[in-house]
Amino acid sequence: MERRTIGATALEVGAIGLGCMPMHWAYSASQQSGETALRTVHAALDAGATLLDTADMYGPFTNELLVGRVLRERRSEAFISTKCGLLVGEQHIVANGRPGYVKRACDASLRRLQTDVIDLYQLHRPDPEVPVEETWGAMAELVSAGKVRALGWCAIGARARRRYGAAAGTGAGMYDATIRQLERVQQVFPVSCVQAELSVWSREALDRLVPWCASRGVGLLAAMPLGNGFLSGTLTPGQGFEPEDVRARHPRFTADMMAANQPIVAGLRRVADRHGATAAQVALAWVLAQGRHVVPVPGTKKARWAVQNAGAAGLRLTAQDLAEITALPGAMGSWD
Ligand SMILES: NC(=O)c1ccc[n+]([C@@H]2O[C@H](COP(=O)([O-])OP(=O)(O)OC[C@H]3O[C@@H](n4cnc5c(N)ncnc54)[C@H](OP(=O)(O)O)[C@@H]3O)[C@@H](O)[C@H]2O)c1
Repeated sequence: MERRTIGATALEVGAIGLGCMPMHWAYSASQQSGETALRTVHAALDAGATLLDTADMYGPFTNELLVGRVLRERRSEAFISTKCGLLVGEQHIVANGRPGYVKRACDASLRRLQTDVIDLYQLHRPDPEVPVEETWGAMAELVSAGKVRALGWCAIGARARRRYGAAAGTGAGMYDATIRQLERVQQVFPVSCVQAELSVWSREALDRLVPWCASRGVGLLAAMPLGNGFLSGTLTPGQGFEPEDVRARHPRFTADMMAANQPIVAGLRRVADRHGATAAQVALAWVLAQGRHVVPVPGTKKARWAVQNAGAAGLRLTAQDLAEITALPGAMGSWD
């Protein structure tokens, strides 16, 4: 698989990563055994997808434990990307960016992951109660201590940013507050990578965030590159989702909005048919085409989809394909 470098670091990864979140968080995990999840991670590595994206809060903890079982055998083949700063409480998810907490969280992640170093340690959300320089300073000390190789910042979703403090905008200005925070923490320690939603139907990051990262030698991990599965074309309007599945409450996944957004899937399928590929692979190849510093991390529970997604790294879209995809209608249904 093509390799890409994470920001200005010398750290190389397969151009397509694996998002491990759906195995234990945000989607229905029913009918999935731990062994199936294990097979999926192994299949992704076999297909050249080295970057495994997880977080302590996925599960909580079970996702890192699962990845740790794989790392025990295949540490040298994997690039481990995990996160700290969010705690799963009885009722709510709360941010904790206190320096002492962050250091304890890192030690706990290292134990669960069965490794002595985390390649990319990301702040899941800034804590509105703690100056971000303090949190980032503690994370920088983890690099000095040799527990972490590089630091990353998550800038996910207007709804999450509203809940966790940073001002949430929409459209072109959606990431302005994020960029201001990134410029503050850059004064403390280099940001190697930013994780943000980027897909054919969520393109706001292209306005300012993706160019900001490119101009400063910062990598961009594209989260939700398949539009939570919609862009694969395998979901049917009105199919329904289990209550724990984030799509049961997502405004783009009502039956009406899924029907209204079908032209996006149809457009991806037209391009896919020309290449003998799938709509999911075209959606990922489009994300890859947004810059050499961009690495998509499609999430899946299934080995066959992990392999299919890895195959998108070999798909070269033409200028006409890219123009056709860019011209597709914007998505209907928004959190705002
Ligand atoms: N930092 C953050 O706050 C944050 C937030 C969201 C996501 N992320 C990261 O980004 C990763 C990706 O986001 P995501 O998993 O939410 O969304 P996604 O990658 O856009 O879509 C995941 C969904 O697509 C389905 N899927 C995957 N490959 C497919 C294929 N080839 N054909 C058909 N369906 C396919 C999966 O189904 P199955 O699950 O049934 O396999 C899953 O339901 C996460 O795993 C996580 O690592 C980070």
